[in-house]
Amino acid sequence: EQIEKGGYEHFMLKEIFEQPKSVHDTMRGRLLVDEGVIKMAGIWDHVERFKNANRIIIIACGTSWHAGLIGEYLIEEYARIPVEVEYASEFRYRNPIITDKDVVIAISQSGETADTMAALKLAKEKGAFIYGICNVVDSSIARITDAGSYTHAGPEIGVASTKAFTAQLTILTLIAFKLGKHNGNLGNAEFMSLIAELDAIPKKIEDVLSTTHELTQNIAKDFVKATNFLYLGRGYNYPAALEGALKLKEISYIHAEGYPAAEMKHGPIALIDENMPIVIIAPKKGHYDKIVSNVQEIKARKGKIIAVVNKGDRQVSEMADYVIEIPETSECFSPIVASVPLQLLAYYIAVYRGANVDQPRNLAKSVTVE
Ligand code: AGP
Repeated sequence: EQIEKGGYEHFMLKEIFEQPKSVHDTMRGRLLVDEGVIKMAGIWDHVERFKNANRIIIIACGTSWHAGLIGEYLIEEYARIPVEVEYASEFRYRNPIITDKDVVIAISQSGETADTMAALKLAKEKGAFIYGICNVVDSSIARITDAGSYTHAGPEIGVASTKAFTAQLTILTLIAFKLGKHNGNLGNAEFMSLIAELDAIPKKIEDVLSTTHELTQNIAKDFVKATNFLYLGRGYNYPAALEGALKLKEISYIHAEGYPAAEMKHGPIALIDENMPIVIIAPKKGHYDKIVSNVQEIKARKGKIIAVVNKGDRQVSEMADYVIEIPETSECFSPIVASVPLQLLAYYIAVYRGANVDQPRNLAKSVTVE
């Protein structure tokens, strides 16, 4: 096992550090920047199904569901196809309306999650076209879908999903750009500039790992005794906030909630005092001015602010107690880059609390029973 961990103390840390490679591997052979092409046989062979779909329904659980929410933002923004995102466990039991004009995408690292599998079977019975985004090759979900794309993240051993999540975001980005280019919603110049930027994301993840590794350890030391955390973000980074909170709660057992930042004033703001740590994801591109006012509201209530901002940021950084800098990207890529320091922060808080990071209590890597 020590050899498999490759010198890292836990699989989770190893998998966090593998992300420049896993994101790159997921794009390899698919993203051909020089030719200006995204090659994805699973999409291309059925592109008319996608193009003529009434809507796309994404079904998943846990972290994969968070990836699905970001998928909704991506596909609606770039391909202009309506998307709904559903928890598989709710979808399967609520007698949903599904027709043969729907495309259902299941996202699952393991490809074995019982609720996701059952929801897919239901959609298939009702005539929908079903598409799988799985990490484990030849898994049950990969086998029952009509078509799909594998995330080539490699085996993920830590119960807390890290590299599978960023690989799922990579696939969803490729799908959104591919469909948008095909149906004419994404013009050539924008397409070319987005794919060039996507190609550079592994390098940005590498930079973030090196600049935030020590920093997140130091921040973590101050929060070992915390009992609650709020994670806030807007737009693409709202699901990133949900994912940051899930990482923390599952491995450190600290209660954490993710929220869209603007929803704060509809309830959670009542929780804020000098004992409440608040992680706020505030990149320049992505409703920055709105986030600034959310941060002001938190500051006025003395919340402890841990801000994830772009390099050189002033306004949010001046108000924050802790600043984590990430490189600037187009908004659609920011959850990939912002998630990395949040994974590290959750990891180190859990380590300093003496938790069993790779095998948290009560959790299984793949949930094959409902
Ligand atoms: C993530 O860190 C979790 N342990 C969990 O939420 C997981 O994402 C969920 O169970 C779904 O698993 P799947 O992707 O294998 O379907």
